[in-house]
Amino acid sequence: MDVIRLAIVGYGKIARDQHHPAIEGNTAYRLVAVASRNASVPRVANFATLEELLEHGPTVDAVSLCTPASVRTAQARLAMAHGKHVMLEKPPGATLAEIETLREDAHRSGVTLFASWHSRHAHCVAPARRWLTTRKIRRVDIEWKEDVRVWHPGQDWIWQPGGMGVFDPGINALSIATAILPRAFHLTAAQLQVPGNCQTPIAASLDFVDGVNVPIHAEFDFRQTGTPPIWDIHVETDDGRLTLAEGGSRMSIDGELQEEGPDAEYAGLYARFAGLIGKGQSDVDVSPLRHVADALMLGYRHTVEDFVE
Ligand SMILES: NC(=O)c1ccc[n+]([C@@H]2O[C@H](COP(=O)([O-])OP(=O)(O)OC[C@H]3O[C@@H](n4cnc5c(N)ncnc54)[C@H](OP(=O)(O)O)[C@@H]3O)[C@@H](O)[C@H]2O)c1
Repeated sequence: MDVIRLAIVGYGKIARDQHHPAIEGNTAYRLVAVASRNASVPRVANFATLEELLEHGPTVDAVSLCTPASVRTAQARLAMAHGKHVMLEKPPGATLAEIETLREDAHRSGVTLFASWHSRHAHCVAPARRWLTTRKIRRVDIEWKEDVRVWHPGQDWIWQPGGMGVFDPGINALSIATAILPRAFHLTAAQLQVPGNCQTPIAASLDFVDGVNVPIHAEFDFRQTGTPPIWDIHVETDDGRLTLAEGGSRMSIDGELQEEGPDAEYAGLYARFAGLIGKGQSDVDVSPLRHVADALMLGYRHTVEDFVE
């Protein structure tokens, strides 16, 4: 296959920290353009908007949309209407219905749409899924806690409708849980802590159950200050307790380390995107976002102190 000429749209934290290095590290791609209102990148064509890039820029085969979900769907539709393959950062949309529109657009335009879930490419996610397939699961506990001021500096969009608040990182845990657990599960109760001056939760406590009544509990919190973040999933089974720690990069059984690996999540995403383009396929799984939508539908809201960055 010819090299994929790629553009990044929205050159913010994740584009800078992860997408750009992953693209540079994969010979299947050449970064030819960036569309970002307040950032530019040396040695590529720079534009303020995707519209300008599509009208005046070099030819691109694909775009990687690294903007917040609230603006991404319109950008994805525009890019696909111009025949470009599209990779969406997570979450794939601000609503579930808009993702169905995107699916139809991709099909109509004959392009690849890839709704990426970077945490699913963490080193120990696949080994954890394999280990769990032969065990009887008794309960699952998810702890996803980080300091919003450290991990999301200046990201006002996170507190606006569609910004998801603590579900922005929490959905990563749900993307792993939906990948490693053998059965579908659904929400039964949720408690949401929402700052008085925000539209989205700063913390959430969620209870799920699967089809054979295995309880799954999740605690998401943006107020983890002064200590390292906790991004852990514990699964009690009839054959020991699996812990997937540090966002899926370390796996232990009964406290004994089984496996750990380097951070290659975005390398994995770009390899997958190239594979999908090569095969003319799309990959759009909304299951993590569906759980967030359910929490926002079913959750009991508690107003907590204002958030001031
Ligand atoms: N930060 C992380 O650790 C992380 C990890 C994985 C995934 N993600 C996901 O990646 C996405 C972006 O997150 P981020 O952390 O990179 O956010 P960010 O630092 O705010 O970057 C997003 C960029 O998108 C552009 N943008 C923002 N609002 C826009 C608007 N209304 N219209 C057009 N462009 C707009 C901005 O660039 P310009 O102002 O230059 O246009 C901004 O720098 C989110 O969906 C997030 O969930 C983030």
